[in-house]
Amino acid sequence: MDKIIIRGNNPLKGRIPIHGAKNAVLPLMAASILAESPCILHNVPCLHDVFTMDKLLTQMGVQIEFTGRYMTLSVPNRISPIAPYDLVRKMRASFFILGPLLARFGKARVSLPGGCSIGTRPVDIHLKGLEKLGAKIRLEEGYVIAEGKLKGTDIYLDFPSVGATENLIMSATLAKGTTRLFNPAQEPEIIDLADFLNKMGAKIEGAGTEVITIKGTKSLCGTEHHVIPDRIEAGTFLIAGLATNGDVQVNNIIPEHLHTFITKLDEMGAEIQIGHHSIRVKTPTRPIKAINVTTLPYPGFPTDLQAQMMALLTCAEGTSIIKETVFENRFLHAAELIRMGADISLEGNTAIIRGVKKLKGAPVMASDLRASAALVIAGLMAKEGETIISRVYHLDRGYERIEERLASLGADIQRIHEE
Ligand code: EPZ
Repeated sequence: MDKIIIRGNNPLKGRIPIHGAKNAVLPLMAASILAESPCILHNVPCLHDVFTMDKLLTQMGVQIEFTGRYMTLSVPNRISPIAPYDLVRKMRASFFILGPLLARFGKARVSLPGGCSIGTRPVDIHLKGLEKLGAKIRLEEGYVIAEGKLKGTDIYLDFPSVGATENLIMSATLAKGTTRLFNPAQEPEIIDLADFLNKMGAKIEGAGTEVITIKGTKSLCGTEHHVIPDRIEAGTFLIAGLATNGDVQVNNIIPEHLHTFITKLDEMGAEIQIGHHSIRVKTPTRPIKAINVTTLPYPGFPTDLQAQMMALLTCAEGTSIIKETVFENRFLHAAELIRMGADISLEGNTAIIRGVKKLKGAPVMASDLRASAALVIAGLMAKEGETIISRVYHLDRGYERIEERLASLGADIQRIHEE
């Protein structure tokens, strides 16, 4: 397994182009199952999770061409609507194919995703919604078996789950009649999915608001679509710049997707310049100030930037409090940051971070995608020593060649390939 070695204390300076969003492209790939003719996606990021979704769809019979950042997906009239455990357990987003398979082919057999390091991550909201749409659902040997004709109805989501919202939107596009989703997720990735489906001939209104209305249609056809930029990747690089007393600009982004995040950087005293498709963050002359952060569903502060923000706050002036309200176990990075000299105490879903003068490099272990990004940021911040991060496969799921891109900004970072 590869390792990443970082010698910190180099300020990151420069511009970095942001790629297509992992959390947009995965549901878009799943949604292509609904189309009776080929779909084309542009700005597809080259990430391990995209390769996993490609493998899952291909083994079901979908023909996929993926070169550079261009992907075509052609779904024959008959595919094997089965998503095996060995692929679904690797990537929870595989569960997003349940809705499209059921809607188009009337049946699906998808492995339950199981938990992961950040939480048990149940799928009850997905299944309850599909049952309301008329699906017959049973669990057998760790698989969800769903079948039946779908009929539009009103569905209230107990929590604005991103995946459940996506599964239910996709299912409702081919249901008979109209479906309204109340309390859906409002993330930009939901809007991107709705845009893609509407180009395929779906009739979706209200994506990004508290009620989404989907009028069922008979069939959908292929279309072409440009994946929205990755707001989490952008936020990660901006935090890395601020954490190293640097000056980083992220390009090819949609600034309003990062509105709440930017207000937090402003609260810390960062100097921020917002362009049409870029954000530049410069470190202030005085130390950054401690702040309080509560993660919330969009448009609140994104849980996917919580770990990276915690790394940054370890050396802020004062005491910060982070409250994680979206996942029940998303502080695994705290113990590793403490090994690097951070002063963090955890009380349930609250982390108290007392600013220290500096972090020191140490061997650390990645536990999940965003925790590993936090460890990279901490390594870049460390004023002395070397940080060796193991299990970087977590990082590769959501960040493309991160060590090369950080090195282009001045980081002293390299990847060691180990069998
Ligand atoms: C999506 O996961 C993202 N993944 C996650 O990004 C992101 O953290 C999350 O949304 C929240 O924004 C993709 O889009 C591929 P949820 P998802 O359903 O859909 C509970 C990353 O790092 N819940 O909104 O799985 C659940 O346990 C990843 O890129 C239920 O209780 O998230 C969690 O506590 C990590 N029952 C909360 O809702 C359900 O049926 C949010 O989960 C579904 C969810």
